[in-house]
Amino acid sequence: MPRRLDDERLRPALAPDRLVLRAPAKTRPWQGGSGVSGSAAMHSSTAATSASRLVFHQTGVPADSLQWESFTAPVPGPGEVLVRILAAPINPADLNFVEGTYGVKATLPATPGVEGCGEIVTSESPDFKPGDRAIFLRRAATWATHTVVDADSLFKLPPAIDPLQAAMLKVNPATAWRLLHRAGRPAAGEWVVQNAGNSAVGRCVIQLARSLGIRTVSFVRRPELIPELEALGGDLVLLDDEEGLAKAKDALGGGTAALAFNAVGGESALRLMNLLREGGTHFTFGAMAKRPLSVPNGLLIFRDLQLRGLWVTRWIENAPDAEVRAVYADLAARVAAGALLQPVDSTHTLDTFQAALGRLTAPLRAGKVLFTP
Ligand SMILES: NC(=O)c1ccc[n+]([C@@H]2O[C@H](COP(=O)([O-])OP(=O)(O)OC[C@H]3O[C@@H](n4cnc5c(N)ncnc54)[C@H](OP(=O)(O)O)[C@@H]3O)[C@@H](O)[C@H]2O)c1
Repeated sequence: MPRRLDDERLRPALAPDRLVLRAPAKTRPWQGGSGVSGSAAMHSSTAATSASRLVFHQTGVPADSLQWESFTAPVPGPGEVLVRILAAPINPADLNFVEGTYGVKATLPATPGVEGCGEIVTSESPDFKPGDRAIFLRRAATWATHTVVDADSLFKLPPAIDPLQAAMLKVNPATAWRLLHRAGRPAAGEWVVQNAGNSAVGRCVIQLARSLGIRTVSFVRRPELIPELEALGGDLVLLDDEEGLAKAKDALGGGTAALAFNAVGGESALRLMNLLREGGTHFTFGAMAKRPLSVPNGLLIFRDLQLRGLWVTRWIENAPDAEVRAVYADLAARVAAGALLQPVDSTHTLDTFQAALGRLTAPLRAGKVLFTP
């Protein structure tokens, strides 16, 4: 049952168990030599903030490894902000992080949460004031009620954006955007093909591609999803099997797709390869079936397929800051306008994390599971 985000009655009673820590001061370009320290002007506070979070001391199965704990949030240092987290989703990457199988290894003990949306409580940055809302562009351990981060690692949100949708903005919409742009955006009317069409990324691909005039083939595991994804804007939604592949070949006139987006692996990834045109690019960005790719030699020799990977984190960390922020401004505007949405299954408090994890494998899960701490 979805909960109101501002319902204080649903917050667990907290018992601070840590010393108040002052975060280390950091030098920021905008502070250099200007003597800017005006903590009064920057809404600072030295009051301790009782908080709670999920933590794991050893990698392993999330349901066995995670614990709920209370702590006292640090006081923000220069250039930092204290953020009250409004919502943070559970992504496959978060589970892999706890399991120890993700591209970033945890420094233990660690709090998961690769993304989320929060409200500024106190600010030691001229760029934010209390009440501003933002998402975290860097990993910020968002499965917590509060966190202290560098203000320059935040992206300020437009007013009136739904906090649940905003909490899911950083990862999946940007991944879909990168998939459509990294190898050169296909022209309007061209085809892209994807598996895991019902995933949050898959839905974002469908919505973005439709708005750009690019046509999509989306493969899914369950027939009941086909009308729903077609209504979302999918041009062709098919079952992920050999019959689905044959139907896609008929519709596309053979292997004519410009790009393929693989989040599954194994036979499903190979089916996508068979729909690519000569020189087409096949991106692997997920491995939901946990099965490796098996690539027939001929697809490389005679069709020169380009097999690549994509990790949105690498782009966020390495692309020019202005480019990253421009893409998020575009995506945030789409989300605020209701044109780029991800379904929400349920929201949970941190202390009921076992129920949240249980929803992930529920047969009728209908979207993302989020913490609203
Ligand atoms: N590389 C990156 O930067 C990046 C960024 C974002 C996401 N990802 C990856 O992209 C994938 C999708 O993420 P998401 O958050 O969009 O997922 P999600 O919304 O949680 O959906 C998971 C999807 O995977 C499908 N699935 C689950 N188990 C499967 C299996 N054994 N075989 C085939 N399909 C299976 C589900 O099918 P049903 O709909 O039938 O349940 C669903 O469509 C994940 O692997 C994630 O790690 C990577």
